[in-house]
Amino acid sequence: MKLNVLALPGDGIGVEVTREAVRVLQHVARKHGHALSLTEGLLGGIAIHQTGNPLPEETLRLALEADATLMGAVGLPEFDRMPPSQRPEAGLLGLRKALGVFANLRPVRAYAALLDSSPLKNALVEGVDMIIVRELTGGIYYGTPRGITGDTAVNTMVYTRAEIERIARMGFELARNRRRKVTSVDKSNVLENSQLWRKVVTEIASEYPDVALDHLLVDNCAMQLILNPRRFDIVLTENMFGDILSDEGAVLAGSIGMLPSASLGEKHGLYEPVHGSAPDIAGQNKANPLGAIGSVAAMLEYTFALKEEAAAVYTAIEQVLNSGRVTADLRPAGPPATTSQVGEAIIENLGN
Ligand code: IPM
Ligand code: MG
Repeated sequence: MKLNVLALPGDGIGVEVTREAVRVLQHVARKHGHALSLTEGLLGGIAIHQTGNPLPEETLRLALEADATLMGAVGLPEFDRMPPSQRPEAGLLGLRKALGVFANLRPVRAYAALLDSSPLKNALVEGVDMIIVRELTGGIYYGTPRGITGDTAVNTMVYTRAEIERIARMGFELARNRRRKVTSVDKSNVLENSQLWRKVVTEIASEYPDVALDHLLVDNCAMQLILNPRRFDIVLTENMFGDILSDEGAVLAGSIGMLPSASLGEKHGLYEPVHGSAPDIAGQNKANPLGAIGSVAAMLEYTFALKEEAAAVYTAIEQVLNSGRVTADLRPAGPPATTSQVGEAIIENLGN
């Protein structure tokens, strides 16, 4: 099979983790006889430095041509005082919108080997297995009007019925291959936007009588994620709530460095670890590449439907965790492994 992949390492630790993820992808392609055509582009702060634009036209063109894009991370401290439209993050937001990747799947799993890495009690996190399905191209991230006029700042949370319908269907479809339970998260006691969300999700649920639906207010959901995380199968939510809840979910998985994600639309797939650019540890070969490597597995699974290859990478991740060759964020008993050693361990594990 031909795999046309664009890599956008971006900023900070994005560079290091993408390097390992790409090595894993190259290894899998070679082993299974797939023709990998890999290009690399600029996104985020590095793109601003080199072209003045966080999402250069060339990058957008490459992404539209590729079957799938692997993104590292965006964000650099030197842009902290800039308005949102001139920050590295604007590049990623523009890319998601241009690719139409409205569904962001963020699986949160408590691996047995990592139970002690979570600050929560083992008994609580054991067996956690959920997917946060985050709407990715709408809501307050993109709504207009927006801006600052004098001492007043405005952002707008907008959703249309069509946007809610398609993300809800994605959530219910995914639930069918799992424990058949969708928890829709909103703030319908306060926001009209959430009232429409709840209404439309409830309507779509009638197309899936085999899937159970419940609703949680986002504040309560934040608490239940810590109190009773095993109750969740599919967490279906809008853009900003999903952003916030997925960082909380990372605590269940032991480290935000563990979390992969797949952003899917009609035509394109964008794969990004959930963690950010972590400038404080960038360039030190310390970052956990397993979120990025898990994102490669997700790419094999969703864009290329290479089930066996994807499963091999997921298994390799699990075995490397069991072996204890992990980075410092996972608090290994012995000396921590470096980013590249973890990549190497995955490749070794995949075998030739
Ligand atoms: C994420 C990140 C991004 C987001 C930032 C970098 C724009 O936090 O993917 O969770 O808010 O979506
Ligand atoms: Mg986030």
